[in-house]
Amino acid sequence: MVPASAALPATLPATVSATLPATVGADLLVPTLTGERRYVNLDHAASTPALETVQAAVDRALQTYSSVHRGAGFASRVTSAWYEQARAEVGEFVGARADDTVVFTRSTTDSWNLLARVLPRRTVVFTFASEHHSTLLPWGRHRTVRLPVPSSTEDALDLSGLDIDPAVVRKLLTVDPDRWRRELPQLEEHYASLGDRVPDALRDQLKSLEKRLASNVRDREDVAVVLRLE
Ligand SMILES: Cc1ncc(COP(=O)(O)O)c(C=O)c1O
Repeated sequence: MVPASAALPATLPATVSATLPATVGADLLVPTLTGERRYVNLDHAASTPALETVQAAVDRALQTYSSVHRGAGFASRVTSAWYEQARAEVGEFVGARADDTVVFTRSTTDSWNLLARVLPRRTVVFTFASEHHSTLLPWGRHRTVRLPVPSSTEDALDLSGLDIDPAVVRKLLTVDPDRWRRELPQLEEHYASLGDRVPDALRDQLKSLEKRLASNVRDREDVAVVLRLE
């Protein structure tokens, strides 16, 4: 629920854009209820946008692309050599040992499934209950220990080795229910300005947030739960 006034700037400040490598589609505009807005992708783990340098390398490789290790023609031999070079570079990047092998897969899910199949049967696997389902599901034939989701935000942070005052951490993590209550009229006003175009699901979310804030939110932990459920 972001009020229109909080719309993102059309361009990032120079200090930020100067430090980020260029990605394909960085100027993408997407339709929203309040008009076109710049698309910002916050998921750089799985759905990572491609770097422009990657796009250029792929375009270059496509000029001589052919099957890897399955052909004797010139293009096949060039592509196979590049494939092996990529394998060596990835190995070096991740610190692979001389007798390790880098295996390219199609996706994260594919990698987990492959790993689950090759691990010895008696292996014990530890996962966090908060993991993506592709990480939780593949371990059928192994003993798995699912570690619980931390009970509070502070509990989830491992600050060992950091010289940071606990009071500063608490302040950084503080959610103020009164501030949320004060913002509710603004949110309602914003929804009203959009009229019938606001989907019922969003209205319902706002109503239930109002209800929880009005009744049983006592402290910032409760609000954190409210926000997580949103
Ligand atoms: C945290 C996380 N892990 C794994 C995956 C699955 O990745 P893939 O689509 O490459 O199988 C995703 C997909 O969004 C993800 O967000």
